[in-house]
Amino acid sequence: MSILKRILGQAKPPAPKPSPKPVAKPVKASEAPLNMDEVLAKEWSQTTPPERAALAEHFKDNAYPHSFEWNWKKINHNRMALVTYVTSQIPDCAYLEIGCDQNALFDAVGALDKTGVDPGRGGTIRKTSDDFFANNEKKFDFVWVDGLHEYAQVHRDVANSIAALKPGGYIALHDLLPTNWKIEHMPRMNLGWTGDVWKVAMEIAATKGLDFRLVAVDHGCGIFRVMEGAEPLADLSKELADEKFGYLYENVGKLPVATWEETKVWIDENLSANS
Ligand SMILES: C[S@@+](CC[C@H](N)C(=O)[O-])C[C@H]1O[C@@H](n2cnc3c(N)ncnc32)[C@H](O)[C@@H]1O
Repeated sequence: MSILKRILGQAKPPAPKPSPKPVAKPVKASEAPLNMDEVLAKEWSQTTPPERAALAEHFKDNAYPHSFEWNWKKINHNRMALVTYVTSQIPDCAYLEIGCDQNALFDAVGALDKTGVDPGRGGTIRKTSDDFFANNEKKFDFVWVDGLHEYAQVHRDVANSIAALKPGGYIALHDLLPTNWKIEHMPRMNLGWTGDVWKVAMEIAATKGLDFRLVAVDHGCGIFRVMEGAEPLADLSKELADEKFGYLYENVGKLPVATWEETKVWIDENLSANS
């Protein structure tokens, strides 16, 4: 795109072409015996034994004996590498982050035009994402969705982000690959927690016209572009709302899980097509 056209605002980014999605290569661990006492003693150490017994009863139906062997600590690429790599190559990038917390990522993004939405702390706007999107008219080049990690909320955040995206822009989101049932558990029961954001990954993967990669770094980072004529974000709530980690374990092959290296090739092709 020429600088002149961009300045005059007349440039239409070329229609992006879908590229083949990688096939998920999940690493599955063999069946591990579940010791609920150990789980609860570690994560709920402040509770009394009778309270732990009640929790064990409450959680036992949700426990799942298999886990993935994603070893995030051994992969040095992370969400910051992904987001700063892409945003730094989008000219005059207008960046939106939903859920900023301590600004670990927000501050690392070098774009000058940054909006951060969080009802608690960090960012630039002290609101929930729903309240923000209700009155937002701005369009963004890159949106990072990382607010409340509950399926229905993330579905709304992604659908609202698609509506607020400039043509050719990117939406990315965090925590799509929980390693085990405790990390995924709804409601939260573990210090490290992804919630059930993975259900929205299933929806993005099922939506025609969303060109999606799920990068196997940092608890799973999704990134996608919206192709011309894309369908609205699929609503799989009837099928997925009550599903738990075991469904993800059995169906992870539906997700376009890719390595950092594979994703970087995809990103570079897209960025050069839009430059
Ligand atoms: C996982 S942290 C964000 C981490 C940050 N994006 C990063 O990469 O370092 C989640 C944040 O979402 C915020 N949050 C919770 N509910 C929210 C909502 N409804 N809208 C926007 N943010 C929300 C929380 O206050 C918390 O700070």
